[in-house]
Amino acid sequence: MKTIIEPFKIKVVEPIHMTTLEQREDILNEAHFNPFKIPARDVLIDLLTDSGTGSMSNLQWAGIMKGDESYAGAESFYHFQKTLRNLTGFEHILPTHQGRASERILFELVGGPGKIIPNNNHFDTTRANVEHSGAEALDLVIPEASKPNLIHPFKGNMDVTRLEALIKEKGRETIPLVMVTITNNSGGGQPVSLKNLRAVRAICNQYDIPLFLDACRFAENAWFIKQREAGQADRSVRDIVSDIFELADGATISAKKDGLVNIGGILLLRDQELAEHAGALLILTEGYVTYGGLAGRDLEAMAQGFEEVVEEDYLSYRIRSTEYLGEKLKAIGYQIIEPPGGHAIYIDAGHCCSHIPPSHYPGQALVCGLYRTGGVRACEIGSVMFGGNGKAPDLELVRLALPRRVYTQSHIDYVVESAAELFEQRDKLIGLRITNSPPFLRHFTATFKEII
Ligand code: F0G
Repeated sequence: MKTIIEPFKIKVVEPIHMTTLEQREDILNEAHFNPFKIPARDVLIDLLTDSGTGSMSNLQWAGIMKGDESYAGAESFYHFQKTLRNLTGFEHILPTHQGRASERILFELVGGPGKIIPNNNHFDTTRANVEHSGAEALDLVIPEASKPNLIHPFKGNMDVTRLEALIKEKGRETIPLVMVTITNNSGGGQPVSLKNLRAVRAICNQYDIPLFLDACRFAENAWFIKQREAGQADRSVRDIVSDIFELADGATISAKKDGLVNIGGILLLRDQELAEHAGALLILTEGYVTYGGLAGRDLEAMAQGFEEVVEEDYLSYRIRSTEYLGEKLKAIGYQIIEPPGGHAIYIDAGHCCSHIPPSHYPGQALVCGLYRTGGVRACEIGSVMFGGNGKAPDLELVRLALPRRVYTQSHIDYVVESAAELFEQRDKLIGLRITNSPPFLRHFTATFKEII
């Protein structure tokens, strides 16, 4: 089989600013060993996130010029609404400025003290918004998900037995909705099968609880279903996407992922009354219901992005790129979450830096090492992100997230070469301590010092 090439040509380029090892040492110090504090100009290959970092297509840029900037009832809104209705089947399509704005509105309406929101794994902003409302955010992913090198085709699946036990124990009144994140970002970008979604739906039906999706990466999830689930290979991604959304009563989406845009979010709802309440909150803090905190041009770019993301040549290239990086890192000796996820590779930093205890943040040490060695920026998903309550998470991970349609294979080869160099010197990586930390979502702004 031939190489799966990038299914696009490059029309606009953006220079990468080169740095030396010495310069990066200074930059890292100035950033207090937190990659979120490094100016993007000083990053060679930025794998911090796949969120809002993608390249738009020629047709999306054409949409930017077509944007209707009317305050109410803009033509761009109707185009966006029609595209999303066709794709998802939802009646109520509320634009928001990004995913967490949709989450904030949703949990302000259904959350609150005494409530529990189960999910396969809550993403950090989802968890924060649930908890901010006073409710409890509970993770119920299948047990296979906590074994990094165990191969399972749908490691993002929800543990339906535990879900049912929870409902029986706590009572359906305490659970305003069940959420499933596709793909499961915090669990390694792992997909959820249609079969599992159907099983969750059946339980929700039995106890009369709505099912919501955190559907940021729905198209990547659908591609995995097509590749891996029995009976799905001959179906179009679009049909699979339709099936996925049909199972849900609502969804929050950050369009910065599979919407292929740099900003935007959506709240999808079926229930008329909930949609009216959500619309009122949208107006309060985001904007009128036909623009929701976005410009008309953003709605045009989103409408086009949601068409392009379900193109199968794109998804084939997308998922293969991630797998390629995973294969190369494994060959070096890194332990990664297997199989490779859709949007990112997650390195098990606990394995690679076994000399650094969780209290000294092995993931953060690896992230700093990757930056120092190659100017590659990655993101810690371990004790820094989730250990704020004093409890270490199960895994100390470092995520290398791939922006969509941005880097070529030679960029990724450079990342692999840097990672190989670092792996040789992994015993020299140094643990860190936190010198300053905010009350929540501390990984964004905390400062660190190396423990020398
Ligand atoms: N849900 C999931 C599964 C996400 O991955 C994200 C964002 C959000 C919700 C929130 O969306 O950023 O538009 O407000 N994930 C990014 C990441 C930030 O790097 O994984 P947002």
